[in-house]
Amino acid sequence: MKGRTILVVSVIFGVALLCGYLVAANVNLLPEVASTRGDLMQQLFNFLLGAATVVFVLVEGLLVYSVIRFRRRSGDEGQGAAIHGNTALEVFWTAIPALLVVVIAVYSFRVLSESEAAAEEPMIVEVIGRQFAWEFRYPELGLVSSDLHLPVAEPVRFEITSDDVIHSFWVPNFLAKRDATPGQISEFSVTPNEVGIYPVRCAELCGPGHAAMVSQVIVESPEEFQAWAERMASLPSDPTEAGRLLFGRYGCTGCHVLADAGASGLVGPSLEGIGTRAGSTVAGLDAEAYLRQSILEPNAHLVPTYLENLMPGDFGTRIPQNELDLLVTYLAGR
Ligand code: CUA
Repeated sequence: MKGRTILVVSVIFGVALLCGYLVAANVNLLPEVASTRGDLMQQLFNFLLGAATVVFVLVEGLLVYSVIRFRRRSGDEGQGAAIHGNTALEVFWTAIPALLVVVIAVYSFRVLSESEAAAEEPMIVEVIGRQFAWEFRYPELGLVSSDLHLPVAEPVRFEITSDDVIHSFWVPNFLAKRDATPGQISEFSVTPNEVGIYPVRCAELCGPGHAAMVSQVIVESPEEFQAWAERMASLPSDPTEAGRLLFGRYGCTGCHVLADAGASGLVGPSLEGIGTRAGSTVAGLDAEAYLRQSILEPNAHLVPTYLENLMPGDFGTRIPQNELDLLVTYLAGR
């Protein structure tokens, strides 16, 4: 009888190990991973998933076996044997989980310290969260963009902050997320290792446009990144093209509808046909003056049903005069 029990327990344990291995090797619940820190976390996650599967199958297997093997037979009206503890068994089933927890703690700590370790000479990208758009600044290159471009295989350090309320900078495919808190800079380092386009999201409820606070990270070859940086550093000579580009660069596309600029944001009023409408909206202001004031002082001429302070009020300090002129001219022509 004892031999049979040992055999059954051994079989259940073997099945549990096999299931753990199969789950760890084949089941992936994470998004496609595109960073070195993400690779480390994926390995840790798979290990945890495998270990949890082993424990689950072992415990449930023994439970089911016991329920069947030691059930009450028909005609058996007895009380069952009185069993009073088993020290060896209790030591065993305390020691094994304790050991498992220590292994998980040590492994997790190593992954955490390795993924948070600062790279030697990372490229700095400042991330600024605003209701409801992301802005990325490259201080070494003197660039500002609403899309995040990164060269593949090059370490980058994000310095994250917010201009208004708490946001959370989240790139699911990097397996990385950090709060963007006003008056405070939080950091993390990443080395993207897969070329591709991935979403950037806000992971903190920050107001009515929270769900629209999306951008993208474009991981590209160093040559493509260089070409992009050069394109960004100069504006097209055609004023309409320049205006359209600035409309995207300053994040206007995130909140307004304007087909010409490929914008479909629903947070603010539509700008379709704004050039013809703006002139007749406020007495004494022509279209350009109306648009300029609306960019610099968003609360000056609120469109009915839209909330005050929904649009950032600091464009005056962020957009250089020549770019503001181009933007106003562009919009007046829509
Ligand atoms: Cu920003 Cu949610």
